[in-house]
Amino acid sequence: MTSNTIKFILNNKIQKIKNPDLNETILNYIRLKLKKTGTKEGCAEGGCGACTVVIGELKKNNIVYRAINSCIAFTTSLEGKQLLVVEDLTLKNGFLHPVQSAMVNHHGSQCGFCTPGFVMSLFAMYKNNASYDKKIIEESISGNLCRCTGYRPIIDAAKNLNNNKPDQFKINIKKTIALLKKIRPQSIFINNNNYYFAPRTVKELKNIIKKDSNLNFFSGGTDMSLIVTKQKKSLGNIIYLNSIDELNYIKEGKKFIEVGATTSLRQFELFIKKYYLDFNKILKRYGSVQIRNVATMAGNIATASPIGDSLPILLSLDACIAVESFNKKKLLSLKDFFISYRKTKLKKGEFISSIRIPIFKKNIFKAYKISKRIDDDISSVCASFNLEIVNKKIKNIKIAYGGMAPIPKRAIHCEKILLNTDLSEEIILKAQMGLEKDFQPIDDMRASKNYRMEIAKNLLMKCFAEIKINSLIRLN
Ligand SMILES: Cc1cc2nc3c(=O)[nH]c(=O)nc-3n(C[C@H](O)[C@H](O)[C@H](O)COP(=O)(O)OP(=O)(O)OC[C@H]3O[C@@H](n4cnc5c(N)ncnc54)[C@H](O)[C@@H]3O)c2cc1C
Ligand code: FES
Ligand code: FES
Repeated sequence: MTSNTIKFILNNKIQKIKNPDLNETILNYIRLKLKKTGTKEGCAEGGCGACTVVIGELKKNNIVYRAINSCIAFTTSLEGKQLLVVEDLTLKNGFLHPVQSAMVNHHGSQCGFCTPGFVMSLFAMYKNNASYDKKIIEESISGNLCRCTGYRPIIDAAKNLNNNKPDQFKINIKKTIALLKKIRPQSIFINNNNYYFAPRTVKELKNIIKKDSNLNFFSGGTDMSLIVTKQKKSLGNIIYLNSIDELNYIKEGKKFIEVGATTSLRQFELFIKKYYLDFNKILKRYGSVQIRNVATMAGNIATASPIGDSLPILLSLDACIAVESFNKKKLLSLKDFFISYRKTKLKKGEFISSIRIPIFKKNIFKAYKISKRIDDDISSVCASFNLEIVNKKIKNIKIAYGGMAPIPKRAIHCEKILLNTDLSEEIILKAQMGLEKDFQPIDDMRASKNYRMEIAKNLLMKCFAEIKINSLIRLN
């Protein structure tokens, strides 16, 4: 059964929006409809964190909390969830939440613009961790920008957060769980100038595609939402995929890992660490926690940006994608998937259902992201190296770069020069020249073509220098 009404929990009450405006962001809903103006708009593109809210979701009889950017999320995505905004943290008697108290006590409350967002990011951290070290704190607020004073008092507040006593959300958790069970998410169909479908199963999804293959897919919306917030256009007819739990999984096989299309990058980032540490490190610098809490790898692949961070990594790992239509399923190698600038082999009515990443147990894997800022910034160049060394010779090598061509691409010439060689400096210098055959980068606001080429060569050298140093350390 489908519904045209979005139901969610707000302040421990069920809130309903019948036939919502499909282009209404959660931020606008909070500020303009609920008249709660604590949540701020800074950039309206997911880049500053001023609009951070927290979403609670029922998982295995517990509530999982995620910080998201409300400026690039739509009210339609609230179906079956709990919405927590900064005003909800203060009790009716005026008592502050421990996060707010810590901010006051350590002078972390600076200007009214960034503070609510910082509070909500710290609140998500508080709900998800028993204790907080510097790493957790810095990561939790990496999607919140302060343009004037600084982060030290905020970090001090986080370090001194008192989590000894349960907060009001913990005290009321049984009631909230009961409410979330009562409004168990339903399939949604809304016809409000445009169509909006949010199926709950793949079968439902395929039935929709069978009737109309001209609909656009929408997962985390971290690329798609900018159509509304920046281009000031309508989303058009869409199918929301992140409502399909069946596609939210990570399976570990003997030879490969399979990642379902609606798995968030945040879930994947935590998992992949044990296989490919550098993949995890790059993901930690991919947007912010708020972005990764909703964005998917499938969305990164389908959007096919030449600077999509997961793409060179997946190319060097020889990943495949499962592509499905209403009646067919095929496996495509990612290396043949990107045709030209933002053009892929996906046809109308086809969606990515999963990503398969081979497990290379014997290989050396390295990846590097170069951007102007460490956190919350898009790559100028991203490079990924996957190689096997047998008896001091390179027996297998796959190198891929992002930001060096209109599509993310393997460095085939460079690979050929390196294959079956030892790791002499002379060969690496030749392989660096091979990159000039592989790529003709462009000048743009992120980097000049000369800088990109120089960086690409340097990253190649860095990769092999690190391999050499590591092997020397092992020999000693
Ligand atoms: C502030 C900010 C920071 C960012 N930082 C980075 C960064 O550091 N690195 C980086 O690489 N990217 C970054 N991005 C871009 C974006 O977050 C990624 O491309 C993300 O992975 C997109 O996933 P999504 O689920 O949000 O896709 P959506 O926005 O939902 O969709 C993107 C495209 O993919 C299509 N699509 C989605 N899912 C499927 C599917 N299953 N099958 C077929 N088509 C599908 C959609 O139709 C759309 O064309 C950033 C974006 C923002 C707003
Ligand atoms: S307003 Fe800047 S991230 Fe939402
Ligand atoms: S932006 Fe708020 S204190 Fe700097």
